[in-house]
Amino acid sequence: MNYSRIIGTGSYLPERKVTNAELATWVETNDEWIVERTGIRARHLAAPEQTTCDLATIAAQRALAMANCTAKEIDLIIVGTTTPDMIYPSTACLLQARLGNHGATAFDVQAVCSGFIYALSIADKFIKTGSAKRALVVGAEIYSRILDWKDRSTCVLFGDGAGACVLEASDTPGILSTHLHADGAYHHLLNVPGTVAQGRLQNGDGFTKMQGSEVFKFAVNVLSEVVEEALAYNQLDRTAIDWLIPHQANIRIITATAKRLKFPMEKVIVTVPEQGNTSAASVPLALDIAVRDGRIQRGQTLILEGVGGGFTWGAVVMRY
Ligand code: UT7
Repeated sequence: MNYSRIIGTGSYLPERKVTNAELATWVETNDEWIVERTGIRARHLAAPEQTTCDLATIAAQRALAMANCTAKEIDLIIVGTTTPDMIYPSTACLLQARLGNHGATAFDVQAVCSGFIYALSIADKFIKTGSAKRALVVGAEIYSRILDWKDRSTCVLFGDGAGACVLEASDTPGILSTHLHADGAYHHLLNVPGTVAQGRLQNGDGFTKMQGSEVFKFAVNVLSEVVEEALAYNQLDRTAIDWLIPHQANIRIITATAKRLKFPMEKVIVTVPEQGNTSAASVPLALDIAVRDGRIQRGQTLILEGVGGGFTWGAVVMRY
């Protein structure tokens, strides 16, 4: 049992879909600008009473159903999220309680938009070393709650959602390699600066701050580097890859990265136009959609990649 392998995927988008036209009634923007600069046409927003754990629970239940596995059979739960329900306990523990699992290892990973890539990589290592047999790995966000809806340079970009997968120990691949990186020297380019002390937010507010064009250049550079690193590590030519599943931040970042990697866009899974950037949820959402619509088939080779605040970035190569 030297590998971990995905045996089920699931995802969930909140019911409410907000188009660019509706957004333009809240803040000074327009459909043409948003589509031209980002490719985004709509995003889903959670209802006021919904929590990140609610979104994660539905995605997880769908992944467990596809895996034909009960929550009790899971011995590791990792949730990648930037928008946990509480300061503590972790959203992974809340999800565990909701699913009726008792005793599994459960924790959150904070790597912002790379959260799922980090979580998947950690779960793979738990399984490879024999510390877990079946892992539930989730990326879930209600990112809309850390957006300043008066700041048009950020609020048009993001959306809410959740994606999940069940990973199982296997004799055959499975995940071939994972590649994680971070450079905290760039923390100032993308952050939510506030901290909680004396019972309230201090040292800044709770809204996303971003230096957009710097983030854009940084993202294209590190994503193409980490995909090259992953290909070289596995001695794989890019033609051996059936699908690239990128973090869905902006269609221009996706196409610029694919171009630099000489990857045809027909082999890239794209969900950003209808979902916006769902942070840690974007990669597992794209994975689940392409699995369920039949594009991703068993035996195909996939590269998943992501980049987020920190900065953090990474890639996972797998045989599906
Ligand atoms: O997971 C990573 C998350 N972050 C990202 O993916 C963001 C990466 N960065 C980007 O995607 C792009 O930098 C943006 C889409 C955020 C911005 O595109 P840009 O081509 O870098 O535009 P800009 O920030 O240079 O702004 C150009 C103009 C400005 O007007 P002036 O100063 O030229 O008159 C902005 O005020 O566009 C204006 N602008 C807008 N106009 C209409 C900024 N936001 C908007 C908006 N609607 N929503």
